[in-house]
Amino acid sequence: MQRAFFLASLSVCAVLLTLQAQQPQTVRQGVYAENQARRGQAVYKEQCASCHGEMLEGRLGPPLTGEDFISDFAKQPLSELFGKIRNTMPQDNPGKLTPQEAADILAYILQAGKFPAGRAELSADEAALKQITWPADAAQPKAASGANSAPSFPPAGNLAQVMRGILFPNSNIIFTVQTHDPAEKKNTPETAALAGGFNWTIWGSDIYPGWELVDYAAVALAESAPLMLTPGRRCENGKPVPVNDPEWSKFTEELAEAGRAAYKASQTRNQETVSDVSGVIADACLHCHQVYRDRQGRGRDPIDPSNKATRCVKQ
Ligand code: HEC
Ligand code: HEC
Repeated sequence: MQRAFFLASLSVCAVLLTLQAQQPQTVRQGVYAENQARRGQAVYKEQCASCHGEMLEGRLGPPLTGEDFISDFAKQPLSELFGKIRNTMPQDNPGKLTPQEAADILAYILQAGKFPAGRAELSADEAALKQITWPADAAQPKAASGANSAPSFPPAGNLAQVMRGILFPNSNIIFTVQTHDPAEKKNTPETAALAGGFNWTIWGSDIYPGWELVDYAAVALAESAPLMLTPGRRCENGKPVPVNDPEWSKFTEELAEAGRAAYKASQTRNQETVSDVSGVIADACLHCHQVYRDRQGRGRDPIDPSNKATRCVKQ
């Protein structure tokens, strides 16, 4: 009887101890040390500043300070931001940071965000970072309005990711009709093996015939055009997609129209008709890119030859 009681109270102690060790903290409670942030700043200057700016203000890549940046990450534990840095940055050489360096940079980012330093260093341990969250108000960008029960679909990627993930592959499927007849079946186990199974046009052509793939690419272009107007999306450099700009809307409509025209052309199952519509699609892409992506005279910066820092801004 007594023994049972003793054991039970022991395990209560154990539970209390673990609770103490994993006590959730917010970044306002001094979760990093001053000299750690200084170390982080040195690594940042060397490995990150060329793309994110000397003052974290954003350049080719988005700003790593300010309300928009914080509110994006503040919805999740600090481990998310750590993982983003550790797993995907520097973008041109990901995976080269040690966990310690990533934690140090994170400390520097917190310092720049005006979160206070404390005595202990920020751990580079994923599980420990999971216990650190952000204060509730940090997750609320100032534009957010009160009660809104409608489901919302915030963007999952920046504009460049939408371009590369949706518009680029699908327009290429349509462009391919200029040189390849979709009715011709060319799929062999060898071509599939060559692509390592990752080329979905090869993989998919076993399931959907070539002409159907062209249909679906055209539908994808037309249907994804409204994604150009998703509120809250940013460009790769952190600038907001200019969704309220009338010229931007006009180019978005042109893209949707080109997608619908491609679908109509594909329905004729005539290679020449689809080849002709290729130009309409290429123009829709070009017209917007000329204004918002590839403006003349912007290519002189040796660090930024593709003008990424100035994209998404009309002038
Ligand atoms: C070659 C350019 C380049 C370098 C160097 C680079 N980044 Fe990035 N970074 C980007 C781009 C572009 C994005 C946006 C695309 C993305 O989120 O992956 C980005 C996104 C990020 C994000 C997410 C920002 C957000 O608002 O979603 C973080 C955090 C970040 N970088 C941290 C770092 C750190 C820390 C370093 C240095 C160790 C670094 N980056 C080096 C280009 C770069
Ligand atoms: C409404 C304007 C608009 C339209 C229409 C448009 N784009 Fe874009 N595109 C942009 C902007 C702006 C960027 C730069 C995005 C960024 O930096 O986040 C971009 C970037 C891209 C990129 C990434 C380039 C890189 O740096 O890797 C590709 C690929 C791309 N677009 C393909 C297309 C294709 C293909 C079409 C037509 C089917 C198209 N785009 C239509 C505005 C547009």
